Amino acid sequence: MKAIILVGGEGTRLRPLTYSTVKAMVPVLNKPFIEYVIRHLVNHNVKEVILALGYKPDAITNHFADVHQLDARLVYNVEARPLGTAGAVKNAERYIDETFFVLNGDVFTDINLGDMLQFHKNKGAKVTIALTPVEDPSRFGVVETDSRKRVIRFIEKPKPGQSTSNMINAGIYIIESDILRRIPAGRYIMFEHDIFPALLAEGEPVFGYETNAYWIDMGTPEQYLQLNRDLMFGKSTQVQFREQDICIDEQSSVHPEAKLTAPILVGRDCIISHGVWLKGPVVIGAGCRIHDGAIISNSILWQDVTIGAQASLEDCIVASNNHIEDKAHIAGAAINKARATKQS
Ligand code: GTP
Repeated sequence: MKAIILVGGEGTRLRPLTYSTVKAMVPVLNKPFIEYVIRHLVNHNVKEVILALGYKPDAITNHFADVHQLDARLVYNVEARPLGTAGAVKNAERYIDETFFVLNGDVFTDINLGDMLQFHKNKGAKVTIALTPVEDPSRFGVVETDSRKRVIRFIEKPKPGQSTSNMINAGIYIIESDILRRIPAGRYIMFEHDIFPALLAEGEPVFGYETNAYWIDMGTPEQYLQLNRDLMFGKSTQVQFREQDICIDEQSSVHPEAKLTAPILVGRDCIISHGVWLKGPVVIGAGCRIHDGAIISNSILWQDVTIGAQASLEDCIVASNNHIEDKAHIAGAAINKARATKQS
């Protein structure tokens, strides 16, 4: 089985963090996000992963040039311009000859893909859309199904009372390869707005596979922070971290009078100085330096970040190579002083 991962967007909702890296490469518990997505596919017997790349593809291809232990063949299909979710899949048509998975590149999920595939076959579906429940569907694309789970309606960002369903499109699809013939080549086309509603209108069998497995779209700073927090609290089966864990890389040093409240993950070559208090969940990437008396709570630091003495950070994300001044007090911020132009 093959899978296409859509990693094309600019990551506008995740700015300013994506000024210095693409969304797929943002670190989650100190590993690039896309690695989790690929490993999950490999664990479900996907042997070939096609990365549909748009924005800054080199960030991803360079990374995987150094990573060899993925047990899947990686194919890079770079787009010259944005083609939308369906256009990007059409653009990868030459790699596809059978039923295949499509995944939005900003979704982290424990969904059982083998079970979803079985469902797809049992139903005789042309397209199966994974559906996940949310409390407030008003920001999402809601999908209504009948008692056999056949899709009957799509409602984009429903107003109160407009739909009784709280099942949303989870951004994971199984598609029969003949559907590709129906997508025009070289144009900007979205599955969600163009292809799926058209299939429905023509009476094609489109089904919704409901799952309660862990699922999150990490496309905003708040959701990204939430994902890291959830993984540290053991909410995903893919990560063995537990809420009482304090994991410090052995090449880092922690002053005996620093205070550590779990869960905490500290990467290599970090220095945590006298009187620092890390109030978990806290993730600190490689090469960070936390000066005397700083307090960091519910925050993520990427690589080579410096936190000045007596500074305090709460609910923050600090991108790589940033410096927080002594005695600064910052809450609820995504901090990245880099600008996109410097990085391309
Ligand atoms: P961004 O934050 O800008 O990425 O947009 P979004 O999160 O609102 O993504 P959207 O819902 O538009 O798209 C869903 C997924 O498809 C995301 O993982 C996008 O990166 C990806 N995607 C969107 N447009 C394209 C495209 O033109 N080409 C490719 N390869 N992927 C795309």
